[in-house]
Amino acid sequence: MSTLEIKDLHVSVTTEDGPKEILKGVTLTIKDGETHAIMGPNGSGKSTLAYSIAGHPKYTVTSGTVTLDGDDVLEMSVDERARAGLFLAMQYPVEVPGVSVANFLRTAKTAIDGEAPKLRTWVKDVNAAMAENGLDSTFSTRSVNEGFSGGEKKRHEIAQLNLLNPKVAVLDETDSGLDIDALKTVSEGVNRFAEAGDKGVLLITHYTRILRYIKPDFVHVFVAGRIAEQGGPELADQLEAEGYDKYVNAAV
Ligand SMILES: Nc1ncnc2c1ncn2[C@@H]1O[C@H](COP(=O)(O)OP(=O)(O)OP(=O)(O)O)[C@@H](O)[C@H]1O
Ligand SMILES: [Mg+2]
Repeated sequence: MSTLEIKDLHVSVTTEDGPKEILKGVTLTIKDGETHAIMGPNGSGKSTLAYSIAGHPKYTVTSGTVTLDGDDVLEMSVDERARAGLFLAMQYPVEVPGVSVANFLRTAKTAIDGEAPKLRTWVKDVNAAMAENGLDSTFSTRSVNEGFSGGEKKRHEIAQLNLLNPKVAVLDETDSGLDIDALKTVSEGVNRFAEAGDKGVLLITHYTRILRYIKPDFVHVFVAGRIAEQGGPELADQLEAEGYDKYVNAAV
């Protein structure tokens, strides 16, 4: 069982002119076994939602709640959120010079499981996860994301997802910058995770392309800090054909 429940979430950022509200009442429940896609125009607050769930200090929750299986996520530190089973693949993965991929993954796995993974099986698991996501073993010794191409960063995020095996994965534009083959590879990585059962996926994307490989149960249209519409996969096709105008105009 894992349910991520977001209720009437309001989030602000600090600007030179004072606080600016970005999320204006987001309500969304992701139950285990469900994949939700969020689509919406640039600047509508999709990444803000992802970062707020993960606990990025730049975002201040002014009201509303986020719970995972009833536990208050907003009370948790970033580490505690990861240990509770939340995972965020960032739109722009950060480079961590001096920290190798192998060390990073082992540290993350140890922190989340509360004990170090067994060395023999771990090396095998890492190599398998990297290979499944189209990264050769030389990536293990490189610094995290340093000099990785855009697509390699995204593949590495999904290798992490497969290794860390959280309860709920928030994937922010994991499909951006991927070549045609990588899109398939990465989608398979997400599906492997989702199909392991009792998992929730929140997939933020601009393109219906990825939704051909990763079948969402629900599609949400995100406009001006809120969910403006929700539906099934057919909603993504409608957006592709008609754009966001209807929703943007209604939001003004
Ligand atoms: N420090 C800041 N000062 C002013 N505005 C900010 C600040 N930080 C974020 N914003 C604004 O918050 C809005 C939401 O940004 P966010 O990154 O969540 O959008 P998004 O929906 O993920 O867009 P995209 O599709 O381009 O990734 C944007 O308009 C952005 O400019
Ligand atoms: Mg974004």
